Amino acid sequence: MPTNFYESNKAVSEYLLFHYGEDEAFLMNGIGPKEALHFARRCGRLWDGFAKNSERALDLGCAVGGSSLELSKRFDQVIGIDFAQALIDAAIRISEEKSAVISIVDEGEVTREVSIVLEKETRPENVRFRQGDAMNLEPELGAFDFVLMANLIDRLPEPKRCLESIHNWIAPDGVLAITSPYTWLEEFTPKEHWLGGYYREGRAVRAFDSLKAILQPRFELLDTRDMPFLIREHARKNQYSIAQASIWKLST
Ligand SMILES: C[S@@+](CC[C@H](N)C(=O)[O-])C[C@H]1O[C@@H](n2cnc3c(N)ncnc32)[C@H](O)[C@@H]1O
Repeated sequence: MPTNFYESNKAVSEYLLFHYGEDEAFLMNGIGPKEALHFARRCGRLWDGFAKNSERALDLGCAVGGSSLELSKRFDQVIGIDFAQALIDAAIRISEEKSAVISIVDEGEVTREVSIVLEKETRPENVRFRQGDAMNLEPELGAFDFVLMANLIDRLPEPKRCLESIHNWIAPDGVLAITSPYTWLEEFTPKEHWLGGYYREGRAVRAFDSLKAILQPRFELLDTRDMPFLIREHARKNQYSIAQASIWKLST
């Protein structure tokens, strides 16, 4: 197994299902929290009501590209960047072939095949996927009207470094949307770089307060909302999480 989980076949098929799977794959006999379905699509609509311009969008930590493709319904040029080459390869494959058959676990070693299909309204021809590091973005990428970081910050070794420089890639009037369940794990982020989830001098430090402290010199907070999502484990088990979305506009 690759040392980076996100390079593994397991991650590729989990994320293809998470981003493109039909409801039936998650809901046993229709039972389950329907508000938690289609997280990637919902993230790809976080610009709605906030972003004035619709030329360019950036999806950082795009995984297999579900939010990038949702963004392509609105934006003329979308760039999806992920550190894991295996996820980027899968994103390119699904956006070219527009459908795939993936194997999902039903019970123990028992699997079944399910089809996933891109929505007709997506514009894959407007999306470019590439491997890259959200903490070291190239200046040549240019500026974007909307930047999405969906469930990325608690998977970065140094989230603060990424957040402190992200304004360089945001156009005037541009909007930044961050979602995160704030699941801090030393496996991804050394503890000295956690944005929250620890005590400092006896006081609880929370990631949302750190986000405000890091971003507010340059950004204005426009909105927050709760964004539930499901990661499927097997036919009768899903992991239910609630990310917090925060939406920010570059201050003028
Ligand atoms: C929890 S997943 C979220 C994926 C997707 N945005 C979503 O909401 O389903 C975190 C993603 O961040 C990617 N990632 C981790 N470190 C990264 C980095 N330094 N630069 C870009 N992507 C990174 C991982 O490969 C993975 O695809």
